[in-house]
Parts: sequence; structure tokens; C-alpha cells
Amino acid sequence: MHRILYLVPLFMFSCGGETDTETDLQAEIDEKYAAGKAVYDKSCISCHQSDGLGMEGVFPPLAGSDYLLYDKSRAAYQVFHGLKGEITVNGETYDGIMPPQELSAEEVRDVLNYVLNSWGNDGGEITLEEVQKEQL
Ligand code: HEC
Repeated sequence: MHRILYLVPLFMFSCGGETDTETDLQAEIDEKYAAGKAVYDKSCISCHQSDGLGMEGVFPPLAGSDYLLYDKSRAAYQVFHGLKGEITVNGETYDGIMPPQELSAEEVRDVLNYVLNSWGNDGGEITLEEVQKEQL
């Protein structure tokens, strides 16, 4: 009985720290994928925002995006060549225009690995070879 009473405050502590843990985790990702974050901050952030949530109805989210996580190679193609026309992301329809991004294959690899692993995404990684196939 005494034991249980001791555990209660511990449990409350670990729940209260949730946001800190998320912030710490993103700080780790920012460090691990520093090159990709630099590309993101230069080329993507104005539309997809620093939290990866985009702007409702205008710029689709990259955080938790089923569309992004479905196909890494398609994402690489689209960063090189742009994207327009109707797409559905997490059940929401977007019909906007993403301009082609003037980036090297290395930069596209780096930025995709950053977004695939940021904001709680668990999307794995894309290789330089896979990215180069989409550049042509
Ligand atoms: C000028 C604004 C703009 C910039 C800059 C931009 N995007 Fe986009 N992005 C869009 C729009 C708009 C769409 C949706 C296009 C459509 O509706 O067909 C989109 C769609 C996407 C998608 C697919 C949909 C999704 O949410 O998963 C990915 C992935 C993506 N962008 C990644 C990037 C990355 C990575 C960069 C930086 C290298 C970038 N974008 C830069 C506007 C932008």
C-alpha cells in the first residue's frame, strides 16, 4: 500500500513533461539533420511553416502527412519538378501550385530526410541514388 502512494507523484511528473520531451526530440532531429534543416529553413519554411503544419487549405502539412510518408521517391520528384493539381493530404483536398525547387540532389536528400523524421514523422530515409533517379 505504501509503495503505491510513493509511485503516484512520480507518475504525475512523467506526464507533465510531455511537451518538453517533444521539444527535446525535435532539437535532436534538428542537430542530426542539420544540413537538411538548413535547406528547409531556406526553401520550404515560407509555405510549410516551421512546425511542418503548413497553412490550412493552402499549403499542405508535412508533419504527419500520409501523402509524404506514402512515397519518398514521389516527394523527391516533386521537389525537383514542382507539383500542381488536386491532391489529398490526411483527408483534406489541396489544389495549389508548388514551384520546382532549385536544389542539388544532395540538398533534396538532406531536406527530405529532415522532413521525413521531424515533428513526430517516422518516415525512414532516402538515399542519394534514389533522389538522383527523380532528378531527370
Ligand atoms: C511556394 C510555396 C511552397 C514551397 C516554397 C514549398 N512547397 Fe511543398 N507544397 C506547396 C503546395 C501548394 C503543395 C500542394 C500542391 C498541390 O496542391 O498540388 C505542396 C506539396 C508538398 C508535398 C506533398 C504534400 C504533402 O503535404 O505531403 C511535399 C512532400 C512538399 N510540398 C514538400 C516540400 C519541400 C520539402 C519543400 C522545400 C524543399 C517545399 N515543399 C517547398 C507549396 C510549397
